Amino acid sequence: MEKDILKVLITEEQIRQRIQELGEELTRDYQGKDPIIVGVLKGVVVFYADMIRQIKTPCQMDFMWISSYAGTTSTGNMVVKRDIGSDIKGRHVLILEDIYDTGSSLDFTYRHLLSKEPASLKICTFLDKPERRKPGITLKADYVGYTVPNEFVVGYGLDYNEHYRNLPYIGVLKPEAYGA
Ligand code: IMP
Ligand code: MG
Repeated sequence: MEKDILKVLITEEQIRQRIQELGEELTRDYQGKDPIIVGVLKGVVVFYADMIRQIKTPCQMDFMWISSYAGTTSTGNMVVKRDIGSDIKGRHVLILEDIYDTGSSLDFTYRHLLSKEPASLKICTFLDKPERRKPGITLKADYVGYTVPNEFVVGYGLDYNEHYRNLPYIGVLKPEAYGA
């Protein structure tokens, strides 16, 4: 697994520090709001587990699972495979995502949750890759962990064909690992 990594882009220590900073921000912004934190599966699980423990004010957890993504390109064809379980009408909702790439997933998730009439709806993404954004997607992430260059990254929950999610850092794959 490690042998397939060309370079480490964000180290475990950098991740830990940034999540602590984001945690302080979120704790401040959501004080007394009892937000529902919605994680978008599966890529977000590692970030979610770390992030939620740095939010030091009462909150609730929920997840949704959308799908369409295969290999290294997104089709933009989204379906809800598993919807959230809570009623978010009139509640403060924060979406947690692993990466804001072309924006298809986040745009879909955002609209889907917005239709359930939350009191507020914000986005926290661990990674932002603005160079890849599809034209027409204007959604802005309210909280960003790191902005990354236009390279395919793995680790810390992010996969290539379902592998590498368990790497504790963010790395760039060697071209050979794609079968190139
Ligand atoms: P979108 O292109 O913004 O819709 O991104 C959709 C999903 O593609 C993300 O939630 C990730 O699961 C996956 N994805 C996008 N870019 C990368 C990457 O560089 N590495 C691994 N997964 C990615
Ligand atoms: Mg994902």
